[in-house]
Amino acid sequence: MMRPMKLAGSQLLFGEGCLEHLKSLNTKRTSIVIGGSSMIKSGMLDTVRAYLQEAGAETMVIDGVEPDPAFSTVVRGAEQMKEFGPDLIVALGGGSVMDAAKAMWVYYEHPELTTLEELLEANPFPKLRKKAIFCCIPSTAGTASEVSRSVVISDKETGMKHGLGNMEMMPDIAICDPQVTMSMPDKITAETGMDALTHAVEALASTRANYIGDILATQAALDIFTYLPKAYENGNDGEAREHMLNASMAAGMAFTNVSLGIVHSMAHTLGGCFHIAHGLGDAMLLPYVIDFNSQDERAAEIYRQLAEKAGGTNLADMVRELNKKLNIPTGFCEVISDEAAYMNRLDDMAMAASADGCTKTNPIKPSLQQFKELFIKAYKGE
Ligand SMILES: [Fe+2]
Repeated sequence: MMRPMKLAGSQLLFGEGCLEHLKSLNTKRTSIVIGGSSMIKSGMLDTVRAYLQEAGAETMVIDGVEPDPAFSTVVRGAEQMKEFGPDLIVALGGGSVMDAAKAMWVYYEHPELTTLEELLEANPFPKLRKKAIFCCIPSTAGTASEVSRSVVISDKETGMKHGLGNMEMMPDIAICDPQVTMSMPDKITAETGMDALTHAVEALASTRANYIGDILATQAALDIFTYLPKAYENGNDGEAREHMLNASMAAGMAFTNVSLGIVHSMAHTLGGCFHIAHGLGDAMLLPYVIDFNSQDERAAEIYRQLAEKAGGTNLADMVRELNKKLNIPTGFCEVISDEAAYMNRLDDMAMAASADGCTKTNPIKPSLQQFKELFIKAYKGE
């Protein structure tokens, strides 16, 4: 049976200049969550604060959210929020910042929650919005956390990454202004852009794919094939930045409703075991998984149609070609030097990928042996 779709929170803004929408928000106290220093250096933090002050808000900044945010970072941010008492939380940054801020929001709203396990096991999911509403301003074009119900939080003690998804965590406001993404370095542009392409391709092939998801994911994929090389080659290409941010958002609306496939299951696993950046893992795995899934007639036809619309014939080859333009390696042997360590963990990796939530909606559910074979191929770059 179809699950109800939710395409975004109550306010979705995109296009050049939409950041100014902040001026019209009804807020007295705003916490702004950022990562390292990129939003300070680009001047975006100052701009965001100035707009919020114009709206009449007092602002405070929670900084230092690291890539693959740890639970301890979530706790620190939530404590700062409890002291300040925001009625609006703004996440200004990439996927890690948006994910960490969403989790901070949950712990701010629910001081009775103190451990990660309590949230992972919470049933029903804790209700939000009694204290604050939540706004995302993405600085990368890929993870689409601004229109998704998911977060990924790392438990540094166990080395495990935990994914958690609930529509309660869908941001109320998403402000997708390409100006905010202009300062993104080329490597991040490439990797996050390939994450967005993977969202689109996996949403199309998902066993829960539907009419609206297909419309969003198809256009997103076509735009990414056209504009990702342009945004990578020239970060100041405003048109390419805008198309990439819109495509990422559209692919995000699709996948948060229809789910993904085993590229994500395997990328989550490699992220947990070998700290492979999420978008890089997706980019490298995608052609292998397209080839594997093509054993399924329905998936093969979906890939064929998308390739044709994008002006090619073989989707896996088109992704390989795009990766080449973006200087993304073909085999994990180029990024994980300890081959023995990789091969020794194949059983664990196959089990983790098989158990990942994204495997459920892949066109084919691979056996553990097939997962191992895919991990080996992707390592050797075959
Ligand atoms: Fe992703």
